[in-house]
Order: sequence, then structure tokens, then C-alpha cells
Amino acid sequence: MLRRLYHKQPDTFAFTPANLAWAEGQITKYPEGRQASAIIPLLWRAQEQEGWLTRPAIEHIADMLGLAYIRALEVASFYFMFQLQPVGSVAHIQICGTTSCMICGAEDLIGICREVIADKSHQLSEDGKFSWEEVECLGACTNAPMAQIGKDYYEDLTADRFREILNELAEGKVPVPGPQNGRFAAEPLAGLTSLTEYESGRTQYNGSAQLSVDLGDTVKRIDGTEVPLLTPWLGKTAKKPAAKKPAAKKTTPKSATKAAAAPPAQKKPRTMKAPRKTGADDLKKIKGVGPKLEALLHSLGFYHFDQVAKWSAAEVVWVDENLEGFKGRVSRDGWVEQAKVLAAGGETEFSKKVGKGDVY
Ligand code: FES
Repeated sequence: MLRRLYHKQPDTFAFTPANLAWAEGQITKYPEGRQASAIIPLLWRAQEQEGWLTRPAIEHIADMLGLAYIRALEVASFYFMFQLQPVGSVAHIQICGTTSCMICGAEDLIGICREVIADKSHQLSEDGKFSWEEVECLGACTNAPMAQIGKDYYEDLTADRFREILNELAEGKVPVPGPQNGRFAAEPLAGLTSLTEYESGRTQYNGSAQLSVDLGDTVKRIDGTEVPLLTPWLGKTAKKPAAKKPAAKKTTPKSATKAAAAPPAQKKPRTMKAPRKTGADDLKKIKGVGPKLEALLHSLGFYHFDQVAKWSAAEVVWVDENLEGFKGRVSRDGWVEQAKVLAAGGETEFSKKVGKGDVY
């Protein structure tokens, strides 16, 4: 495959202030005269910010590192992880097509990409939201077939689930990554056959998926304000630059909508001092609520499905804002809809699995 600069290029590139501070921090990792060694992280951050590597970005980074442009272009065009053409504004889908995934259904996933996104890889979908490519083994073979979307892995995919994930992403949702068939991690589908003492005390999701859930949006473009900038090799914590909205950044439709929207109204829902005499409901039956979140909900005065089921839109905003460390979880995981089913005595696909050892 020829890897060339795209025929249409923007005029300029600039790191956001926070990404610039990060990039300058990376350069200080290397001894004097070896700053060029920072080229891959800097190119990667430019791609994380813009979605793909533009010619002005490559030139900008070459200037930062005192390199000839051709040297930076050599690196950018050598590594397939660098996208040299525009990618979907919502997500670039990378389907593993190597042996395990191919045997377990990767061709079906690629067929869906051809049908739903674009016939050829690296082409944008008609609405510009998605692009796709087939990649080599991503190291999650025990959870084949799988795809990398944004920063995370969606594993144990079926064609139907993959279609759903694309639909959810198109609607602005970020589905929970990790195994999509109810497996916790890479254990046998029927459950653990050894080390069963580790069955209890699990978090709701495996470590990797939990981290993604805690981070929140794993498909967003990175502007550098997501995590504090640490430069311990300088012997101190670098000052985090003020999070300014980059003026020239082309925003994705999602972030453009967010930027334009006024802050939604909030209202604190009615709370209870303690659960009813019948005892608290098992709030962990709501997908997205693990033991930690359940304890947090109790501390806020929520014990029952019917409480959650009654939250209005403004009340959902309030709870989303007040879930310390888990902000936005209520709306993202659709708690109210799930709670309505559970409060009426029904079960959701997820709640049926709770307590059977495959979610905790
Ligand atoms: S073969 Fe697909 S992740 Fe390894």
C-alpha cells in the first residue's frame, strides 16, 4: 500500500495549549542533541488531536525538533499507525483480520464496515463520521473477533453487536469497551475453572474496561486537558496550562454540539435517609453500577429502582454531576430506562447475569 500525503491539506497546524505543553514536556525527556527521539510521541499526539496527520502537522513537529521535513515525513509514512488521510469525525474503526479473529468472524465485521461505512478501507462514510481499516493482530486473540475503536478494544464481537456499536457511536454514545458477550475478561465462557477464589470481589468490568469507563469518552479527540501533565524527570509536577478552547481546531460534530449547548438545568432528586424496611434494591443490577457506585448512590440517598426510574432529565443531570469519579454515568448507561424495567419487576439482559458470577 502506498503511503502518501493526502491530496487535500489544511493550511496550518497548531497544538492546543495543553497539548503543546505536553509535547514540550516530552522533548525534555531526551538529552541535549537527541530531541529528535521525541518524534513518534509528538506525531502521535498531533494525530490524537486532529484524527490524522496533516502535512502542516508533520512540518510543525519537524520544526519543533530541529529536523528536516523529509526526516519527519519518513517516520510518519513508515508506521501504519499514522493515518495520512482524514478519518471519521466520530471514530476510525480498526478490525483485526489476523488468524484468530479471521476464524471467529472478522470477515463478517469487515463486511459490515463495507456495507455501513464505505466499500474501501480508509474512505470516509457518506456522513463523514466513520472510516475503517483491517489491521494485523492487536494482541487480544483470546477475545476474537475484536476491533479497536478510539482508544479501546471491543472484544468477543458478533456481527449484530458490532452493528449496534456503530449505531450507538453514530448517536454520540460511547459503548462500554471490553468483551461484548458477557465475559469478564478472557476466562472460559462458562466461567472460571481455576483460581475461582478470585471470582468474588470483582469490579463490574475488568481492569482495562473499568479504566476506560472511568475515563469516560474513549473516542474523543485529545486536547491535552484530559489528565494532569506530569514531568517527574524534571523533579516537579509541571504546571497545567489553562484549558483554553483552541480557536483553529476543527471540532467534530459531537464536540461542536457540546460547545454550542448551554449548560443543562439541574435539579436534585428526592432522596431517602435510609432504605425502606424491605431493604435496598440491588442497584448493581443496573448496567454501569458496580459496588463502588452502589455505595456512592447509597451515600447520596438512593436505594431503590423506583427512585432512579423517576428521575427527570434535570435530575439525571444533577446525579451525573454529583457522582464523584463517575460523572456522566447515569445518562451514558441509560440507568433510568433500566430502572423502570427493574422497578416494574422485570429483568434486563444485564440484570439476568448479575449474581451468576459473570459480571462481578
Ligand atoms: S488475531 Fe485478532 S487480536 Fe490477535
